[in-house]
Amino acid sequence: MAGKLSTKFILRKLHQITGIVPLGIFFAVHMFTNAKAMNGPEVFNDAVADIHHLPFLLLIEIFGIFLPLAYHSVYGLFITREARNNISQYGYGRNWLYVFQRVSGIFLFVFLLFHLLHFRWGLFASIGLTGTAVAGNADQAFSIVAGDFQNLAVLAFYVFGVFATAWHLGYGIFLFAVDWGLVIGERAQKATLAICAAVAFGLFAAGTNAAFSFVRPCGLLPQVFCEQPAESVPALRSEEF
Ligand code: HEM
Repeated sequence: MAGKLSTKFILRKLHQITGIVPLGIFFAVHMFTNAKAMNGPEVFNDAVADIHHLPFLLLIEIFGIFLPLAYHSVYGLFITREARNNISQYGYGRNWLYVFQRVSGIFLFVFLLFHLLHFRWGLFASIGLTGTAVAGNADQAFSIVAGDFQNLAVLAFYVFGVFATAWHLGYGIFLFAVDWGLVIGERAQKATLAICAAVAFGLFAAGTNAAFSFVRPCGLLPQVFCEQPAESVPALRSEEF
């Protein structure tokens, strides 16, 4: 019994750690790379090419992204199935955040599966999306994403995906800090929750602006934040707003 408990304990801790390192770090770096789209197609394509030119990329992807992501997602679904949500007992505050952590996790499972199969492997041309994978086509990376984001539903789905990921990570960092005993006491926990919410908002804002940069020059920000000429990004057709 003790052995069984400790295995569960280790699996649980591993689940928390994989969510922050490497997945949380990957997400922040990914949003930063996407934000380069603010400076135009050439800058973004060069950023993607730089990633593709990394030595040992396949090993980095397998051990740094795909395996941790698979473990975190599948074990996360397992935890969600086991969890007994108590919002009916305490229908406010942290219990709702706890429920949203699980709901966002389930959504992310679907979102990331779609995202990887589409941009990484070029699937879903049959439903009107670009059929060219970004992997191996860095010189077309911007136009592949921009082509899909011309469809407002796809753009909205991505903005929601960024929101869910940012919140899931931000609240995940808070849960990690509390569970590992890094913040003890009501006031310290409230302050930590505020910092985590700010981190989540920052990542959401950066990622959302990056998403809009594929359809509008400089995304939602004024041109003064960007170096590209305004005409280098295809503007979203006005009837789609
Ligand atoms: C506006 C939102 C997003 C855009 C435009 C975007 C774009 C891309 C592109 C173009 C690729 C292919 C890169 C390549 O093959 O070199 C990619 C891969 C990937 N994206 Fe996103 N992404 C977005 C949001 C997200 C979010 C929210 C996550 C959640 C963590 C995420 C996770 C991943 C993963 C795990 C990969 C595979 C990385 C690899 O194969 O090396 N993406 N994304």
